Amino acid sequence: MKIQNVFKNNEAWVKEKLSIDPHYFENLSKGQSPEFLYIGCSDSRVTAEDIMGVQPGEVFVHRNIANLVNNVDLNVMSVLNYAVRHLKVQHVVVCGHYYCGGVKAAMQSADLGILNPWLRNIRDVYRLHAAELNAIADEDARYNRLIELNVQEQCVNLIKTAAVQQAHKERGLLVHGWVFDVKTGKLIDLKIDFPKIMASIMEIYRIV
Ligand code: CO
Repeated sequence: MKIQNVFKNNEAWVKEKLSIDPHYFENLSKGQSPEFLYIGCSDSRVTAEDIMGVQPGEVFVHRNIANLVNNVDLNVMSVLNYAVRHLKVQHVVVCGHYYCGGVKAAMQSADLGILNPWLRNIRDVYRLHAAELNAIADEDARYNRLIELNVQEQCVNLIKTAAVQQAHKERGLLVHGWVFDVKTGKLIDLKIDFPKIMASIMEIYRIV
């Protein structure tokens, strides 16, 4: 696509929105109160708004390679704190996806430079669940399962934060783990048992 087309597309989009509601952008400019924080992969095939069927203003979004929630990543932690403590979202979602290049790279022995410390988080997920993963003979099935377990562990990482613990206690904030299947377009709820996981790790991770 030619870069100029981006601006043509934008003009057409503005026109379309205004034809439905002449005050659309004026109203958007007044502020945001999204119910969801979505943490997903940067993969170009997985766009939060499209797969959830939501409009601008409805979901606060953070994306990085392989949808990681790393304790020392100032970026994701800032997004989380702003969304939970200031915007007061009611749901925090970690959304992984099958065919994730980040997870695939972490399953291989290769020096990927600056990506090494980032992808190391996924290798740690593998190590935690090595018994289950190594028992899966089919490589594609093992890859898919690691994608799901990675989502689950990032949900656990969310529960370790003060922002999530406090908001859960005060207003019942919930954490969800989803996987998007690029091949079918389907969004799958992993049905992470949030209260159960929380109860099992709070002895060690309780902050609030
Ligand atoms: Co990905």
